Amino acid sequence: MAVLASGGGSNLQAIFEYLDALGAHRDGDVVLVASDRAGAGALERARVRDVETAHLARPADGGALAALLEERAIDVVVLAGYLRLVPDAVVRRYRGRMVNVHPALLPAFGGAGMYGHRVHEAVLAAGARVSGATVHFVTEEYDRGAIIAQWPVPVFEEDATETLAARVLRVEHLLLPRVVELLAAELLALDDDGRVRGAFLAGAPGDAFTLGDATAMAAGIEAALTR
Ligand code: GRF
Repeated sequence: MAVLASGGGSNLQAIFEYLDALGAHRDGDVVLVASDRAGAGALERARVRDVETAHLARPADGGALAALLEERAIDVVVLAGYLRLVPDAVVRRYRGRMVNVHPALLPAFGGAGMYGHRVHEAVLAAGARVSGATVHFVTEEYDRGAIIAQWPVPVFEEDATETLAARVLRVEHLLLPRVVELLAAELLALDDDGRVRGAFLAGAPGDAFTLGDATAMAAGIEAALTR
């Protein structure tokens, strides 16, 4: 698996730690971390683990990115806070094998320019009472691919972008690694008609607002994923 990231890499770290916890039961390993930013914290997290890193000096160069991935026989690509549009040729090559995490409940609050705090500012400005995280397949357009999994969090009256972002990020760290593992295990796929086959996670009655500790939330997500 390869992870593309532009920022600090806390989602990458969550994937590393989840796969560690699975141990011999994991179905894949992150063997490459690439970034469009030479100074991205995500690259440093990879180096600490002796995972190969790459700086994408020309992120729009589909040929260079495709070669980087194919030379390492990459099966699954994860966008974890990667802010660039993936070139069409690479999207086509990895259709149904590339996923992204977005810090809101798509299709709302997504699209070009909607990343980082801008997303949470928009959620608060809209007066939404629920937000959350979405993991979806990647297409040629930002945040438009088939939705695989979503998990809701409440938006509190006193929330600022930082507090909401932190609450959503906790859920991202629980959701993304589990979806990545299912994809690596081929328990999740995208049909030719664009439908998600396998796990499809949505909050079920009683799931919403389970803002307990991470273990409780993880248990809720695990249960829902394997329902
Ligand atoms: C996450 O909130 C992700 O949803 C968004 O960018 C942020 C990246 O955080 N696309 P990190 O680099 O994984 O800490």
